[in-house]
Amino acid sequence: MVTTHERLLQRPLQPKDGTAGIERPRGLLESVPEDPEPLLELASRHVVSSRQFDRAKLAQLFRLAAQYESTPQLMHLPLTGKILISAFYEPSTRTRLSFESAWHRLGGAVMSITDPKSTGIAKGESLADIAEMFNNYGDVIVLRSSEDQAVYDMLDTLRIPIVNAGNGIDEHPTQAMADLYTIAKWRPELLQGPVPEGERIRVGIIGVPSRMRTVRSLLLLLACFPEAVGEVVIVSNEPENFDAGQRKELEEAGLRLRVVGELDPVLPELDVVYINAIAWVGDSFESLGSGLHLTRESPLKPGAIILHPLARGKELATELDDTPHNWYFAQARGAVFIRMALLTSVVRRISAVMDTPEE
Ligand code: CP
Repeated sequence: MVTTHERLLQRPLQPKDGTAGIERPRGLLESVPEDPEPLLELASRHVVSSRQFDRAKLAQLFRLAAQYESTPQLMHLPLTGKILISAFYEPSTRTRLSFESAWHRLGGAVMSITDPKSTGIAKGESLADIAEMFNNYGDVIVLRSSEDQAVYDMLDTLRIPIVNAGNGIDEHPTQAMADLYTIAKWRPELLQGPVPEGERIRVGIIGVPSRMRTVRSLLLLLACFPEAVGEVVIVSNEPENFDAGQRKELEEAGLRLRVVGELDPVLPELDVVYINAIAWVGDSFESLGSGLHLTRESPLKPGAIILHPLARGKELATELDDTPHNWYFAQARGAVFIRMALLTSVVRRISAVMDTPEE
């Protein structure tokens, strides 16, 4: 009798079902004309918040990411000789590995810290002093920390750019870029200018904007595209969902927001269903949204796509992995290419991959 393990070992490796979107970046290339200017503005800049981005910068980042994703055989190595300091003071699967993969694919070298106790933090060294040392050893820092304040504590002493890879419950801007890049590949025409009212997308977010850094950053980026996003529906069973001023800021930017407590009644209206259940708190995490689940029986609109920043728990059934609704694996894959585009911009190497005026 052949065991399951033996069967899996004998099976030829194939692209896995549920990797929707892999073939899509070319449509995005056709929808966005190349313009290096917005990316040149990112040269030698820190990337801390989604607030630093606008529609033009995002569209060009998506375009360059699509170029990297669709033409790996034409890959340049614009970061040869550059060193990334990858400092992850909190667990990560996707963000650390996709940043490091992005940097390696661009020809750079990586130094990685995965345990703060292996650094001077164990001796009480300040983040400002550590940042002063980082200036000497690398060209860019990518920082993940459980503390909202950590990335800000380094800014004053840094002379090299830092990219926020998640700071407490505050922000995770490059995750939000990966989320929107996925939507842009699914519907590239959303980037072409004002979208007729009836063709705008309705995005459902099962999550808590004030507690989840991924949701906070995603809402800020969605607010850059109010002429493409008809409505954002927050699905949450928490009594409070927004920080003071958070909802007002988004609505003033043009985003139409609605909050509902039940998922199934609203699901048939949603084109994009984004789900997350984890909020980082200190050295641990809390699960929010008990009772809000997506399964194969959920009344999803035909053609709707599901996004999830991952890691997932019970909120997203694995039985959805083999359906066309699964765009969350494409979202995790695309994160490599959007991070390649961002890193190329931040280290002043856009001229190596695009036609530019003198930098
Ligand atoms: N999406 C995300 O931040 O995943 P990791 O925690 O694995 O980096």
